[in-house]
Amino acid sequence: MTIETERLRERVAAELLRTRDRTALLTDAVDDGDLTRQHSPLMSPLVWDLAHVGSQEELWLVRDVGGRDPLRPDIDELYDAFKHPRRDRPSLPLLTPVEARRYVAEVRDKALDVLGRAPVDDGRRLVADGFAFGMIIQHEQQHDETMLATHQLRVGAPVLTAPEPPAAPAPVAGEVLVPGGPFTMGTDTEAWALDNERPAHQVRVPAFWIDRAAVTNGQYTAFIDAGGYDDPRWWSPAGWDHRQAAGLTAPGHWVRDGDGWAATTFGRTAPVVADEPVVHVCFWEAEAYARWAGKRLPTEAEWEKAARWDPATGRSRRYPWGDETPQARHANLGQRHLRPAPAGAYPDGASPLGVHQLVGDVWEWTSTDFHGYPGFAAFPYREYSEVFFGPDYKVLRGGSFGTDRSAVRGTFRNWDYPIRRQIFSGFRLARDA
Ligand SMILES: [Fe+2]
Repeated sequence: MTIETERLRERVAAELLRTRDRTALLTDAVDDGDLTRQHSPLMSPLVWDLAHVGSQEELWLVRDVGGRDPLRPDIDELYDAFKHPRRDRPSLPLLTPVEARRYVAEVRDKALDVLGRAPVDDGRRLVADGFAFGMIIQHEQQHDETMLATHQLRVGAPVLTAPEPPAAPAPVAGEVLVPGGPFTMGTDTEAWALDNERPAHQVRVPAFWIDRAAVTNGQYTAFIDAGGYDDPRWWSPAGWDHRQAAGLTAPGHWVRDGDGWAATTFGRTAPVVADEPVVHVCFWEAEAYARWAGKRLPTEAEWEKAARWDPATGRSRRYPWGDETPQARHANLGQRHLRPAPAGAYPDGASPLGVHQLVGDVWEWTSTDFHGYPGFAAFPYREYSEVFFGPDYKVLRGGSFGTDRSAVRGTFRNWDYPIRRQIFSGFRLARDA
């Protein structure tokens, strides 16, 4: 075994362990009643997410990579996300919390055994560079963020705690000019990048201005105070229809607090913090705010150019700060804090042009529909992303405070319906140069 292979195995094992610790934290924080209850029709019971994580790990690592016999072929169908919409999952004969914990532990034992014995490279793309393991680590982290969103929707005494995010050493506002010209979007070289991030391709973006920080609670409150929710001029027809039907008057989890606003965050209600990015807004709200402010949302390509393009070399980097894997000083990721950090809190994570907090804090809505890049090829299965391509979904970029570092990078693409705001979604503004 080469030293490189050994290093990869050690890294995979450490990431699996770190990820499972987070899953355990999110599922051990509540009692069995809260694990099996549906906290919102938009979300699965937490115990479904838990066993589904194990089911995917069994399918890909134990059965496919390892070539081992199935542990629980009888439950494959229950935990197939495409067979049962979230709203139906509570009525399924799901594993109990005790059974689900035992199942994921058994699967993990087998997966670690596969990791120790199976060739890291058997000629299959699924196995090369530990891709299948990377995919499963990201999958579990993505469900951990989903479970965190379920925690936010749960009603009851707070069960999660974390230190407050860092303060901003200096406030960040205003916008920067990103010059026009070609840049490389997507990747061929990021080993654990998913199919929709590939292939790398040249995109020509006209010069544009982009805000140095995401829109803050203070700025968003000005939109509310100016009657933004009652003025159809700022809303697209579809956005206005939704605003009316859903009765939107403020971001999700906001409540009136005297003359101002408070927000409930994981069971604790406190006045909104003016210089933190607004979170729990849907695409239609972001779009309406942008029009009111005389700007627009960035396209996905603009967002990625702002995040990756290095004006000194013309090269596209892995992250706004360079190629280094995210550290705590770069970005608010991984549920280290339970809220977005104020604008300017991560100067070490800024891009060369001075755009801050592109990665971490809040997912940022872009104006772009979710599509495959030129030359897209589904891998390892169409249901990962291809079946979602089309005008129904908008792309979000950059990850949130609830996204793990393994599940976000400069090329990472998320997508959701424009009406959704149970996710940790915010936005920043752009305009033509
Ligand atoms: Fe999943």
